[in-house]
Amino acid sequence: MKIRRSLLCLYFIITFIGCNKNHNYTGAVSSGHPEATKIGIQVLENGGNAIDASIAVQLALAVCLPNAGNIGGGGFMICRMEDGQAYALDFREKAPKKAFKNMYLDDNNQIIDSLSTYGSLSVGIPGTIDGIFEAHKKLGSIDIDILFNYAIQLAEIGFPITKRQADKLNYYQQDFIKYNPKNNYLQNDKWQEYDTLKQLDLANTLKIIRDKGCDGFYKGEVAESIIETISENGIITLEDLEDYKSIWRNPINLNFSNYKLISMPPPSSGGIALSQLIMMLSNFDIDSISHNSVDYIHLLSEIEKRVYADRSIYLGDNDYFDVPTEKLLNFDYNKKRALEINTQYATPSNQISHGQLNYKESEETTHFSIIDKDGNAVSVTTTLNTNYGSKVFVNNRGFLLNNEMDDFSSKPGEPNTYGLIGSYANEIEPEKRMLSSMTPTIIEKNNNLFLVLGSPGGSTIITSVFQTILNLILFDMDIQSAVDMPRFHHQWKPDNIYIEKELYSDSLLQILSNMGHKIITRNNIGHVNAVVYENNITSVGADKRGDNFGLIVK
Ligand code: GLY
Repeated sequence: MKIRRSLLCLYFIITFIGCNKNHNYTGAVSSGHPEATKIGIQVLENGGNAIDASIAVQLALAVCLPNAGNIGGGGFMICRMEDGQAYALDFREKAPKKAFKNMYLDDNNQIIDSLSTYGSLSVGIPGTIDGIFEAHKKLGSIDIDILFNYAIQLAEIGFPITKRQADKLNYYQQDFIKYNPKNNYLQNDKWQEYDTLKQLDLANTLKIIRDKGCDGFYKGEVAESIIETISENGIITLEDLEDYKSIWRNPINLNFSNYKLISMPPPSSGGIALSQLIMMLSNFDIDSISHNSVDYIHLLSEIEKRVYADRSIYLGDNDYFDVPTEKLLNFDYNKKRALEINTQYATPSNQISHGQLNYKESEETTHFSIIDKDGNAVSVTTTLNTNYGSKVFVNNRGFLLNNEMDDFSSKPGEPNTYGLIGSYANEIEPEKRMLSSMTPTIIEKNNNLFLVLGSPGGSTIITSVFQTILNLILFDMDIQSAVDMPRFHHQWKPDNIYIEKELYSDSLLQILSNMGHKIITRNNIGHVNAVVYENNITSVGADKRGDNFGLIVK
């Protein structure tokens, strides 16, 4: 109990006591698929560092987790190197030069169904391959060809698909046929668990990129295939592809008690929102509240509503919209918002707006966490957006294109696929990056590497990461329990608390309803993959919700 109180009351006091210089790290990988995790471990065992392993894992996921792993999508990387230096790499997709604000609206200003979520017009310019080469150039340590070869071999030899994968592939067959009448790459009448998935076209594409570098994707035959595939109504041009650049950004840092959060800045909302959640929570005496109790669910939901209301107004691509980062990360601002919360009754979302600053899913993403023997740590969340992205396979190249354009606000006040409301900050502009909820995060404890984590789950990513952090550092759970614990989610609008079925009970529903909440039960909220290092012991937490798999180097 005392530990919990001190955590929140000592907010902003950074403790240097306990800083340990003698470490005994063990390499570890936790990712969304066993094949990718095993490849990451092989890279670490063969002398690669965490960055090298992250590149091999990203490429392997493009092969063994085609609904989310990708070379036709984008993502974010947070890493913290052994010297304590942290970096944030933004390889998020961006809008084509021909994109425009109302491109998904009809003549009556109404959103045209599915245009931003399916097919060629939903595709943002992919960033993954540029991100891989950029990360390797700055921080990698072994030959990048070797890192490509793992994925190439996996694609050529194939791998046994899991039950979840078989079900998913069967479920999306009609979409694949509709959006790829001539080129249904994953076509099969009935996929079954343990069927071997071989992808020879994808292997060839990866060889071209391995041999030609970044240009192998953004110029030449692969780029031409992308343009040819989307030619009917897509607007991406060869020039768009050639001009794509990933960007190193300054991570969001938040010091609380003896912890330091390192997370992703805009165009992800993750780092700012996670910081706001922690800051608002620090105004309450959490000691008196039990884990996942009515009071806990109520308090966190009320905090989450306020943070997501701010997200909808203030967050977008900072290169196009001046995100008020400093003001949103101001403790007094968050305290004022937190003190508006009634601890007995829900405030209806319609009565909650963004705060006044002093100036004017299906959810298929994937996350992996890695540390190496030297204490370098990498946290990557990567996505095609929804399951299998736009459902468009690049002709004869064996990979899918994202539907990330839906993460823009197509029309102010109208929800996107995750029910998230956006505004001017996140409206479509040529070459702008769409707002994301991806929250790759690293946490230090007493200035030492402590926790690497993240999650898929669209709008639920931020709350999944938040609750996992609290499980670990406030409720003293081991990492596997912290990751597996049932979760809940509120995102301001719609005004519902989404509760995983495992957490639901009639009495919980009754009490929360009496407090003014609407409850919706649902399946999985997020899939967290985490690695923890404490007292010279490395542990992994691979979420039981999916095919996630964690391993530690022997
Ligand atoms: N595509 C989901 C996200 O970036 O938040």
